[in-house]
Amino acid sequence: MASTPSPSKSVLVTGANGYIGNAVCRAFRRAGWHVYGLVRRSSGACALAASEIIPVVGSVSADLSWLDALLGSGTTFDAVVSCTENFPFAAHYAHILALLTRVAQHNRHHGRPKPLVLFSSGCKDYGTTPLHGSDRFAPHLETTPLDPPAILRERAACALDALAHPDLFDAAVVRPTPVYGYGSSYYATFFQVVSSIAAAASQPGEGPKKKIRVPADLNTVIHGCHVDDCGEAYVALATHADRGAVAGQCFNVSGRRYETLGELLGALGGAYGISFPSLIGDVVVVGPLGEGEEQGGGEAEMHPGAVLQLGYSQWVGSDKIRRLTGWTDTRTLLSEDARAYRAAYEAAVERGDEGVARIQERVAGTLAGDAAWKKSGVYGSKEVGVRYIEG
Ligand SMILES: NC(=O)c1ccc[n+]([C@@H]2O[C@H](COP(=O)([O-])OP(=O)(O)OC[C@H]3O[C@@H](n4cnc5c(N)ncnc54)[C@H](OP(=O)(O)O)[C@@H]3O)[C@@H](O)[C@H]2O)c1
Repeated sequence: MASTPSPSKSVLVTGANGYIGNAVCRAFRRAGWHVYGLVRRSSGACALAASEIIPVVGSVSADLSWLDALLGSGTTFDAVVSCTENFPFAAHYAHILALLTRVAQHNRHHGRPKPLVLFSSGCKDYGTTPLHGSDRFAPHLETTPLDPPAILRERAACALDALAHPDLFDAAVVRPTPVYGYGSSYYATFFQVVSSIAAAASQPGEGPKKKIRVPADLNTVIHGCHVDDCGEAYVALATHADRGAVAGQCFNVSGRRYETLGELLGALGGAYGISFPSLIGDVVVVGPLGEGEEQGGGEAEMHPGAVLQLGYSQWVGSDKIRRLTGWTDTRTLLSEDARAYRAAYEAAVERGDEGVARIQERVAGTLAGDAAWKKSGVYGSKEVGVRYIEG
């Protein structure tokens, strides 16, 4: 019987129990690679092993003895995918670079080709685009000057530095839009906001109708990508036949079209059994404050963490990776399948998904020490929802 040679390629993925890292691991595995997933805690190893990912317990830190042990066993890597989230990023990057250098030198020592490094950054590196329907409305492309929010400045700069070591490794920067699906990462905020509006709407009220103010324009552009499609994009770059066309480049990864905040809230409202934006039982949902207008008593305000997510308008073009590799997204948009994505998110919450908890902490963290929000607790202290202003 004729045998087909095995591709026998190996990839090391850092942040393998993270949201993107795990999707990347699974995508490489589906593509027939040997996948090594780095996790910091041995408790994360079992889940990786169950998905046929070889768990490696260690951290991206000054102590890379775990890597020495791995390489010492004769393993070489064709690709390394960096998927960690860590602040302050510049200090973390020094350790990432040490890791990449060691993998590259090991390949050289064994007469293997340079590894391909796929370095995860994000589309927020470009800043924001205007609202849907505005003048001079155009997508962010890889040629767009970088203008990241302060918290992401170091990540954006370090990602570009990863391109500057072609003597050691080939590298490309991957800039996904926010990603959704399963636990839904930062998109969880949308589920929390709409569920808290639904909860508010179901409370019987007397007197004038309560108002919930959505703090962002409904024409805010929300451009995402399903996390499985995102994982496939990394594989498309790693398996592209022309390494020279990938190395030294940045690639955006975004879904085939954007949605607007109004479109998303409308679809999610349907999934939660409320009609939005409009009258919901005793609650009226209204837009952002107009000029000179003040938020009044009896109105509900939205968690600042939610404002960050709902109000970040960005349209991102991903033609470059599509044209070069043929990658395309195949999963339904969030607004096309809101019930399924709601159910998946709630299932993740139900089983105590670590990733959901991690994002919740991060987003709600903007409120640490905010006594008013802590006191309100009406819709869950860590939930990114709404609270009523007394008065
Ligand atoms: N989520 C999104 O929507 C999105 C969109 C675009 C770009 N990105 C970017 O993509 C990257 C990954 O994001 P994500 O959402 O997948 O993050 P995530 O779910 O928070 O996962 C981050 C992972 O990094 C690991 N990690 C952090 N520091 C580490 C260290 N020193 N050594 C080893 N592992 C370490 C964490 O391990 P522990 O579990 O041990 O903490 C976790 O597995 C980030 O750069 C992020 O900014 C994310």
